[in-house]
Amino acid sequence: MYIPWTLKYKPKTLSEVIGNRAAIEKILGWIREWNRGIPKRRALFLHGPPGVGKTVTIEALANDLDMELIESNASDYRTADAVRRIAGRASEYSTLFGKRRLILFDELDGITGSADRGGVRIITEVARKTRCPLVLIANNAYDPRFSTLRRHCLMVEFKKPSKTEIVRHLKRICIHEGIEAEESALRFIAERSGGDVRSAVNDLQALAQGKRRLTYEDVSWLAGRDRKEAIFNVLRMIFYAKDAETSRRAVNMADVDPDMLFEWIYENLPHQIKDPKELAATMDALSKADIYRKRVRTTQDWSLISYFLDLMTAGVTVSWSRRARGWTPFKFPDRIRTLSSGKGERAILSAIGMKIRRRCHISSVRAIKEVIPYLKVIFQNNPEMARGLARWLDLDDSMVRYLSEKD
Ligand SMILES: Nc1ncnc2c1ncn2[C@@H]1O[C@H](COP(=O)(O)OP(=O)(O)O)[C@@H](O)[C@H]1O
Ligand SMILES: [Mg+2]
Repeated sequence: MYIPWTLKYKPKTLSEVIGNRAAIEKILGWIREWNRGIPKRRALFLHGPPGVGKTVTIEALANDLDMELIESNASDYRTADAVRRIAGRASEYSTLFGKRRLILFDELDGITGSADRGGVRIITEVARKTRCPLVLIANNAYDPRFSTLRRHCLMVEFKKPSKTEIVRHLKRICIHEGIEAEESALRFIAERSGGDVRSAVNDLQALAQGKRRLTYEDVSWLAGRDRKEAIFNVLRMIFYAKDAETSRRAVNMADVDPDMLFEWIYENLPHQIKDPKELAATMDALSKADIYRKRVRTTQDWSLISYFLDLMTAGVTVSWSRRARGWTPFKFPDRIRTLSSGKGERAILSAIGMKIRRRCHISSVRAIKEVIPYLKVIFQNNPEMARGLARWLDLDDSMVRYLSEKD
């Protein structure tokens, strides 16, 4: 079963939350005030960028202090009435069983439309009168809609954890998953996340799940091809577009070249499309796209490129019903890694072939076919002899490593 690592490794206690120690101390101080009566500021307004642990901190707090947490979020704020109903809970100080209550209004940025004005006004009322601790969370507390509300709240800002802190968090996850990860690979992921822990953890999972080792090479190929529009969004646009035109436009939003985009689509299709007939139809569109792609390459006739692009986007979109069943995460394309390592292997083979040619006076093609297999046996079984051969053929470290590796 697929469990997002953001859930699996979600902090359960405050000590597991990374970064933001000062903010957490401030929250704890405020909640302690409630033990002595009703404090001056009855509501706490926690704000900061997405993915830095605002929600999980409040959940961990309730857990640590054994409080009953009553949570609501954007989907509960559709109408002012709905907001009023939720707000009603804030009048009860403790539960039937004497457990103290903590009320959380999360994702306040999500109050929109008809619930907007009325909703914020109701929440402001609750913030002034509540008889139990109330926490409000929003990304942007400085939205003018919240200006009155802010005056009644203790404002606490959550900041992006540092890169080092994120790396440490990723490292813990790797240890738990039995993955040996290079520090530089984790630093790269942390860097890319721009301080968003959620997206760092998601990237790590997409790149490393099921692996024993995670190297810098495994992740660095993402560099430069980075997301103008995050590639996952582009895939979503192509697979689930309303119409062919939207799907087609996605090509321009992707910050990867069309060949690369092809790989992303190819790799993700079977995971997104569950119906075998629909999968066959979309694969068919993709295979036709591939034919045009080849033809462009061999004939250099660039007028054909639009067939390639249209078939791999709109062609896929219109070949299935586009109803997602459940949530399936998009994957990083493995084939690209295999292809590029294939290229690396060919390069090293031909380099060794040249060395053999120089010494043995046979063609390097023949050397690759007839000599290298024997060299591999020797390098893997007789280090003494291998050392001598390496010196004689003048092989460098990477060549020796290649010959010594068991396939
Ligand atoms: N400071 C943090 N410490 C540990 N994990 C974090 C932190 N911030 C985010 N995460 C991870 O990202 C996920 C989303 O965090 P969340 O609290 O929902 O972010 P926010 O509410 O700030 O958008 C969590 O489930 C957790 O896995
Ligand atoms: Mg949140």
